[in-house]
Amino acid sequence: MPKTTEGKDIKRIGIIAAMEEEIRILKMHMADSQIRSIAGTEYCFGKIGDYEVVLMQCGIGKVSAALGTQAMILEYQPDCIINTGCAGALAAGLKIGGMVVATQTVEWDIDMLAIGFPRGFVTTMNGVLMQADPAVSEWIAAAIPFDVQVSRGLVVSGDQFVSTPEQREIILGSFPDARCAEMEGGAIGHVCAQNAIPFAVVRCMSDTADGDSDVNFALFVKEAGEKSAEILLSLLSRETA
Ligand code: ADE
Repeated sequence: MPKTTEGKDIKRIGIIAAMEEEIRILKMHMADSQIRSIAGTEYCFGKIGDYEVVLMQCGIGKVSAALGTQAMILEYQPDCIINTGCAGALAAGLKIGGMVVATQTVEWDIDMLAIGFPRGFVTTMNGVLMQADPAVSEWIAAAIPFDVQVSRGLVVSGDQFVSTPEQREIILGSFPDARCAEMEGGAIGHVCAQNAIPFAVVRCMSDTADGDSDVNFALFVKEAGEKSAEILLSLLSRETA
């Protein structure tokens, strides 16, 4: 039985993705599923392998992700929450199809620089970086096949699709170690941190967050989203000891 870093057994897992193609495969393999809707968002509760799982497609963006995460925590009390999907690569050498498992997340577009706060500062947490759960993150990273490019590091989230040199400069100027950009993980990390729920973010690169990212995103969103979900599916389908 896998455990969180604090030593709690992981029996019930919340899985959140923004888009249909990022969660469909998991839904297809869920047994005994019960669907309910809260604030316009659908929650699918059932079993995958030996685990109780609640799946939620939150929609794109930080507010939608935060809203859905808080409702999931209150209604389902998961032992941990995993955010899966695609992302745009920021780190040099990180290729389309490569994967990132977050060590930390940040909401890079929180900007109160004019009043003296560092970029990404979350007043309610009195900090910038949200810490992903090391044990849950390692559990996921270990399930990624050997032929896939995988790295651990900082995942940055904002309510912007990153495609311009200006956006990259803002992000990398404040967070030079940023590995990839997406639009939900930081909000999910923030809500989980405030509720003391262990979380992990796993993302497969659909593009390289540059001038070609609109075209590449369209080409690779399905493949990248499915790849990340398939890794979770293989992890959950293994028998627990
Ligand atoms: N998700 C996938 N690619 C992205 C990008 N370039 N920016 C933000 N979110 C993304």
